[in-house]
Amino acid sequence: MEKTEKEWENPRANREAPLNFTDKDWQAGRIDGELLWISKNGSSGTAMVSFIPQVLTEYEAWHVILYVRSFGK
Ligand code: HEM
Repeated sequence: MEKTEKEWENPRANREAPLNFTDKDWQAGRIDGELLWISKNGSSGTAMVSFIPQVLTEYEAWHVILYVRSFGK
């Protein structure tokens, strides 16, 4: 089932600054597909814009997600 806008909201985010990708709780709370979804769709009302396919292909974005995951290790 599709998630609603509300379910995607992250109370830790201040809507302007990028999230802290080294936060282990944040890392644990998101599956890879959710990270790809945000990369594709952005998050409306925040500074997070969509960058697939304008900047990266989906294939390239998976590599960025692997890199983001490395911050949680
Ligand atoms: C390589 C660069 C970036 C990547 C890979 C990236 C990726 C992501 C991802 C995966 C999320 C979802 C986090 C979550 O809800 O669990 C996110 C959220 C967010 N990003 Fe980015 N981002 C990048 C750059 C930026 C920049 C430069 C900004 C600000 C100028 C930004 C602002 C935000 C904000 C405010 C959120 C929270 C959105 C919300 O709570 O709904 N991001 N980002």
